[in-house]
Amino acid sequence: MALREIVQIGEDVLRKKAKVVEKIDEKIIQLLDDMADTMYNADGVGLAAPQISILKRVVIIDIGEGLIELINPEIISTSGEQTGDEGCLSVLGKSAVVTRPNVVTVRAYNREGQLFEITGRELLARALCHEIDHLEGVLYVDRAESEIIDI
Ligand code: NI
Repeated sequence: MALREIVQIGEDVLRKKAKVVEKIDEKIIQLLDDMADTMYNADGVGLAAPQISILKRVVIIDIGEGLIELINPEIISTSGEQTGDEGCLSVLGKSAVVTRPNVVTVRAYNREGQLFEITGRELLARALCHEIDHLEGVLYVDRAESEIIDI
């Protein structure tokens, strides 16, 4: 088990575009394992590699239905709309209202290097959009439609 430090809003690394993973090697496997330890330790539902200062296109999500690992994820389709509260482990103790698609399909590689697709609805769709935004240096506060409030 290895916990990595989750950086907070204001750090430059959160605003940079993450790089495509060219090869799924031991380092990427270790990164995925450390990200899971770090996310669960922080009681989060998602974590993107830039949040632990690694500018690689790697995301993990667990909305309570099991761990999803996404390497080089791409949103390939979206539909509908949902508006609700959102938070982030890099903006601790805050929340704001954000509108996201209600259904999102993502294509990504798993740790075995296999391409797969996942379709998420509601919370999972929101998490997919939120985490993939991190890979572009975008934070939910950029999309906030309400005041950012303390929770
Ligand atoms: Ni976040």
